[in-house]
Amino acid sequence: MNDTLQQLEAKRALARLGGGEKRIAAQHAKGKLTARERLEILLDEGSFEEWDMFVEHRCVDFGMQDQRIPGDGVVTGYGMINGRLVFVFSQDFTVFGGALSQAHAEKICKVMDQAMKVGAPVIGLNDSGGARIQEGVASLGGYAEVFQRNVMASGVVPQISMVMGPCAGGAVYSPAMTDFIFMVKDSSYMFVTGPEVVKTVTHEEVSAEELGGAVAHTTKSGVADLAFENDVDALLMLRRFYNYLPLNNREKAPVRPSGDPADRTDASLDTLVPANANKAYDMKELIAKVVDDGDFFELQTDYARNILIGFARMDGSTVGIVANQPLVLAGCLDIKSSIKAARFVRFCDAFNIPVITFVDVPGFMPGTSQEYGGIIKHGAKLLYAYAECTVPKVTVITRKAYGGAYDVMSSKHLRGDVNFAWPSAEIAVMGAKGAVEIIFREDKADPDKLAAREAEYKARFANPFVAGARGYIDDVILPSETRKRICRSLLMLRDKKVENPWRKHGNIPL
Ligand code: HXC
Repeated sequence: MNDTLQQLEAKRALARLGGGEKRIAAQHAKGKLTARERLEILLDEGSFEEWDMFVEHRCVDFGMQDQRIPGDGVVTGYGMINGRLVFVFSQDFTVFGGALSQAHAEKICKVMDQAMKVGAPVIGLNDSGGARIQEGVASLGGYAEVFQRNVMASGVVPQISMVMGPCAGGAVYSPAMTDFIFMVKDSSYMFVTGPEVVKTVTHEEVSAEELGGAVAHTTKSGVADLAFENDVDALLMLRRFYNYLPLNNREKAPVRPSGDPADRTDASLDTLVPANANKAYDMKELIAKVVDDGDFFELQTDYARNILIGFARMDGSTVGIVANQPLVLAGCLDIKSSIKAARFVRFCDAFNIPVITFVDVPGFMPGTSQEYGGIIKHGAKLLYAYAECTVPKVTVITRKAYGGAYDVMSSKHLRGDVNFAWPSAEIAVMGAKGAVEIIFREDKADPDKLAAREAEYKARFANPFVAGARGYIDDVILPSETRKRICRSLLMLRDKKVENPWRKHGNIPL
């Protein structure tokens, strides 16, 4: 018996060693942790149950039959994050650069299949050179098996990708289909083809960092949600992030009681909106003053900053926040912000997370660059997302709600459950100046007359009461009482049930 136990331990030790001491040292020298060290930080101490430690690849080409490493470049299994179940895979760059073989893919598929059966999220820690080149099409097949499962799991269990090293070729498409992508600054890259191929094909010279580094993807492409400083910071933040999410689409988001009273008022909100409608203010201040303990987990902080998205809690329960940011582009909706918010609303809707929308929007961004870029189609994504969304929806219009953007931003007409306005709200087809220049064109030559028309229009429409008179606004509330009124609304909406008509699936304008 002792012999067999020793054999087992020897095999385990070999698997734990991955690609060997030298490669582990090289990984550390790059400021990166190994696949196992990462799981130790991500998961509750001692909770990791590893599967398939003894799986090996089956490739016999290019001398691969002599290079078999137990585990084959990915550590898989399940564990707990703050006592809640999670399935994980962590690619081991020390083994063939974390490249994906058929066996490697099968290990990932196994945890994904089990996660679907029990209804728990999947977190992938990605650090991979893409398809295992020696395996050819077997590796491509392996990728496609993972992709298929990503799609089947979408909207059923949350899927999160933490990109912690190079992710090239096929390695980027699985993360791309997960709900959230996080990256680590200076050590993670995502690209379909690396700088060398780019140079050959397009003669463009670009560094890996510029092409697909964390900054590129969190500021330019919007592919990644956030970038963290290093592996440890990233994994600790991921633990925090996980606390907001339900385990699956049949569960409600977890409740985490806080000492912050649901009926807390904040007098400073009564003066947050400047008297001058053209002056900006920081919507983040409003969010911080309304949510539990001022704690807002913002996503995509550096991309399309004219809209804010992220998770917070209200009276202990997770909520998704969407808010126009008047500080950037006056908070208008453009292509990037529409896509950013639409995808977030759809995540919340899929996973039973109520959506709170703070509105201060002067409209859609005009101009050829937006029109040629397809603002019609992309703006429609956000409209579509809010309209199909059946989770509790609470909307607060703080100032401008003009034109189509009024309709889009979780209006009553798109089944907003509770729609509040602050006294400073201006709900109209457009701003007073633009409006009178169109309907009183004949007065354009006479500035005094036009100014009088503008004042008249403002007095008539730049307020919440015209919408209120039609019931489009449920109440005009004191800004200081915003938290209290939202918390009450969410309590009232706790058991809301709305079903959309049966269909195979809708056809969101992609
Ligand atoms: C097999 C690989 C590998 C791969 C890296 N390695 N990528 N082995 N298949 N795809 C091995 C290396 O041979 C090396 O082995 C070890 O991993 C570390 O690689 P290095 O190159 O030394 O590391 P580094 O300098 O950090 O560069 C990392 C890298 C680079 C940027 C990922 O290795 C690279 O460009 N790899 C190829 C990327 C690629 O083109 N992948 C195929 C994409 S096609 P030793 O033994 O020396 O330690 C694809 C199609 C799928 O994925 C499409 C599905 C839709």
